[in-house]
Amino acid sequence: MEKFVINGGRKLKGSVKVDSAKNAVLPMIAAAVLTEEETVIKNCPPIGDVVKMTEILRSCGAKTAFCDGNLIINARDISINSVSEKLCGSLRTSVLMLGALAGRTGGAAVYRPGGCNIGKRPVDIHLYALKTLGSSVYDESDRIICCGKPSGGDVYLDFPSVGATENALLASVTAKGVSRIFNPAKEPEIEDFVGFLNAMGAKVYGAGSSCIRVEGVKRLHGAEYTPIGDRIEAGTYLIASAITGGEIAVEGVNAENISSLTGKLCDNSCQISVGNGIIYQKSIRERKAFDTETGPYPSFPTDLQAQITSLAAVSEGTSVIRENVFETRFGHVSELVKMGADIAVDGRTETVRGVKKLYGAVVSAKDLRCGAAMVIAGLAAEGQTIVLGAHHVERGYYGMHKKLAELGADIRGV
Ligand code: UD1
Repeated sequence: MEKFVINGGRKLKGSVKVDSAKNAVLPMIAAAVLTEEETVIKNCPPIGDVVKMTEILRSCGAKTAFCDGNLIINARDISINSVSEKLCGSLRTSVLMLGALAGRTGGAAVYRPGGCNIGKRPVDIHLYALKTLGSSVYDESDRIICCGKPSGGDVYLDFPSVGATENALLASVTAKGVSRIFNPAKEPEIEDFVGFLNAMGAKVYGAGSSCIRVEGVKRLHGAEYTPIGDRIEAGTYLIASAITGGEIAVEGVNAENISSLTGKLCDNSCQISVGNGIIYQKSIRERKAFDTETGPYPSFPTDLQAQITSLAAVSEGTSVIRENVFETRFGHVSELVKMGADIAVDGRTETVRGVKKLYGAVVSAKDLRCGAAMVIAGLAAEGQTIVLGAHHVERGYYGMHKKLAELGADIRGV
């Protein structure tokens, strides 16, 4: 899709169900390479990044198919352990093929990964982890080569990188020895990924704590697994409703996983309650400024920073939002300013002076979450907003415009 056309001003009302979490599904697809048997990832949305990851697997010899909302992978015939520059450049999680292919075949070669343009995004921690787990790693200017089956070891991550934790897990689950990953990422998607690995017969303990222990096993087997719901998708709809003064119910996500967001929504304008696995949001007062800063889980997620900036833009008072994870994740700011927002960025900090109204404009989705933020702003703006670059949004949200339209928004995808 090319763009979203939004006529703002409608309050959202109704209920919406989220899909499986993108950031849990992507490493699971990489992990499917570790077994010769079939794996099934249930309720798997065919969003852009997931489709790209399946293309990577197919380029290595695996078979993949979407069937009745599930993704079926058979990696019995893996015959190639390198990934093309074009495929690696299309998404960040292509780098997970290092750990996955090294675990399966004893070697792997990838090009530097692409993905959202939100900062430098080096892979040094990934490579350190793979080396420490016993593979030889050659970091050439554009290509990374990993030789030798990982044997296991103790890995201390300087930063709890989500991707590096996943690569270390992929490399260690079929290593000969025992591995420990200190200071791993604690995101709920990591715990869920470990749930998937264990369903494949891995022996991984301590996910969610400050040390993950992996007892290497000889072989992994096939598995059928339902990932957790997407907390970022859920958070995006909750913010969208709050900005329109709406009232919605969000189904399919564990509320605890986004308590850092729901707390801010309560400070801002909402009443939030939870029952039977459903999050109920109700706008109960005028929107008020709030402060927040992003960080590794359980801190406020960087993947909701752009969206909550849209909310701050129309909240009375001055909000201060600090981005601690990705140094240049501010692509949404210039676009919100085109709609009448008053935002200044200094280093990693946005100062957002709330305005009474945003006005419809032609804006660009510069990256995935920037696109979501622009859609949210468009829902509240006076007049028509056109969000260009809708394909960025489709990388991470399945049918976002349809779900919002079902909640009463005037939005269409073109
Ligand atoms: C994952 C998520 C992404 C989310 C991010 C942070 C997926 C597919 N993507 O990305 O949506 O925004 O976590 O929650 O799960 N870093 C290094 N060296 C490394 C690795 C990371 O310096 O080797 C830095 C990054 O530049 C960044 C920070 O660590 O500043 C966080 O990155 P990381 O946790 O690795 O994020 P991703 O796995 O890329």
